[in-house]
Amino acid sequence: MSATNFDVVVIGGGPGGYIAAIRAAQLGFNTACIDEWKNGKGGPAPGGTCTNVGCIPSKALLQSSEHFEQAGHHFADHGIGLKDLSIDVAKMLGRKDTVVKQNNDGILYLFKKNKVTFFHGRGSFAKAAEGGAYEIAVAGDKPQTLTAKHVIVATGSNARALPGAAFDEDRILSNDGALRIPSVPKTLGVIGSGVIGLEMGSVWRRLGAEVTILEGLPTFLGAVDQAVAKEAHKAFTKQGLKIELGVKIAEVKTDKTGVSVSYTDAKGGAQVLECERLIVSIGRVPNTNGLNAEAVGLKLDERGAIAVDDECRTNLPNVWAIGDVVRGPMLAHKAEEEGVAVAERIAGQHGHVNFNTIPWVIYTSPEIAWVGQTEEQLKASGRAYKAGSFPFMANGRARALGDTTGFVKFIADAKTDEILGVHIVGPFASELIAEAVVAMEFKASAEDIARICHAHPSLSEATKEAALAVDKRTLNF
Ligand code: FAD
Ligand code: NAI
Repeated sequence: MSATNFDVVVIGGGPGGYIAAIRAAQLGFNTACIDEWKNGKGGPAPGGTCTNVGCIPSKALLQSSEHFEQAGHHFADHGIGLKDLSIDVAKMLGRKDTVVKQNNDGILYLFKKNKVTFFHGRGSFAKAAEGGAYEIAVAGDKPQTLTAKHVIVATGSNARALPGAAFDEDRILSNDGALRIPSVPKTLGVIGSGVIGLEMGSVWRRLGAEVTILEGLPTFLGAVDQAVAKEAHKAFTKQGLKIELGVKIAEVKTDKTGVSVSYTDAKGGAQVLECERLIVSIGRVPNTNGLNAEAVGLKLDERGAIAVDDECRTNLPNVWAIGDVVRGPMLAHKAEEEGVAVAERIAGQHGHVNFNTIPWVIYTSPEIAWVGQTEEQLKASGRAYKAGSFPFMANGRARALGDTTGFVKFIADAKTDEILGVHIVGPFASELIAEAVVAMEFKASAEDIARICHAHPSLSEATKEAALAVDKRTLNF
């Protein structure tokens, strides 16, 4: 056993942890990052859920499957003929694995570049050490004990299992198994029509699976602006995704060939869904497994998340926690922002994360993206607002792309015109939302956006026109 002293030790190398470590090192701290994720060969695979079984591989498969869908259903509109279209699932999964590895390697390179010491293995609290420091044990190929003046916990989250239906990653799949189904199933069940259910359901539907999504709540995408949710529901249903709302799952049984899900539908009728495989995507739980939080008295909240204040301080001096393991949206960019802010706070700076301007994106087709408040939230809060929308149908670039589904919607304060929320469903919503985030960070009014010159022809003109629509003066609709 060898002891090594660090100013900052980060436990967890996902987007929260690795970014926190890089920022801490940039600020001059002697920094270590411990991550236990193993690649197929047992080697390090930093990047966490996001890189290994989340954001990155899901977007790789969404891209591959969208190409397949375009080639099969839309190329003909452009006069492009294809014979014998086929999908090689093994190759598609191999490409996804390559993309993941490029990201793993990129993070290892960034650690070297920024002089972050990386330890591959499980990090846990051993005990409080002298002078307010902590001893952190690293279990792995080379067990050792580190001493840290500051600890940042960034241990992420795990998929929530349905009671009585443990993940076997063969028939009952978490996000992990959902990203490596070896061949296109004829029938695929999904429980939960949240972000993962819609993204992964879309991937396998595009490749030919008959996909049925069972959702417990009576409202589709309840947290999303309901005009957007309605438009998206219409598009998904047209594509062939079957979405049943208001169901209650009774029992899930598996055998060698498939899964049988017994449930009651919204009207109380008993139903059974038979499917080859079942994805369970009903949310995620914070992960503190193996952290040995008890050894130092690190406090968790009632959900099992590490309890933190607004600035990510835990109940222990010099111990911070960020990302999915604490309160707030479980998003990679939220974790990253918290990582940067905490490193800056340790350096005595004033790191800040604005929860009101964290964008959300669902990478389906059409894409869904939003920032700020929904019309439903504003109604509930009683704030006076005005809203305006502009359809992609009236946007020249969208027509040229052949993708005119959806719209951009602006909501602004009735008196001051300050932008309170922007909601997009349609092509490249994930990219278009950035302008709205910048505008809201600078407390722009809808008129500010309406007066800015946007390139023609571009999808961003729909953003400008939606801002004009707030004042009922669109030019192209
Ligand atoms: P994680 O990424 O979970 O990383 C935690 C890391 O800590 C892991 O590597 C884990 O192995 C390691 N670890 C845990 N305990 C220990 C320990 N004791 N010692 C050492 N290492 C430990 N978010 C988006 O913003 N955009 C998306 O498009 C998106 N797509 C997603 C798709 C899917 C299918 C899923 C499941 C999630 C997606 N997310 C997306 C959410 C995103 O992945 C998470 O919000 C993000 O990964 C959280 O980052 P984190 O650093 O807090 O934790
Ligand atoms: P989610 O919270 O997005 O959706 C879960 C859905 O399951 C909800 O609609 C919920 O009502 C439903 N549900 C819960 N229990 C149920 C039950 N017993 N029966 C039927 N339905 C039930 O969670 P999901 O999809 O698992 O994703 C987890 C998180 O990962 C997301 O909230 C998000 O933070 C992150 N993520 C982000 C992505 C992105 O940014 N594009 C992509 C994928 C995941």
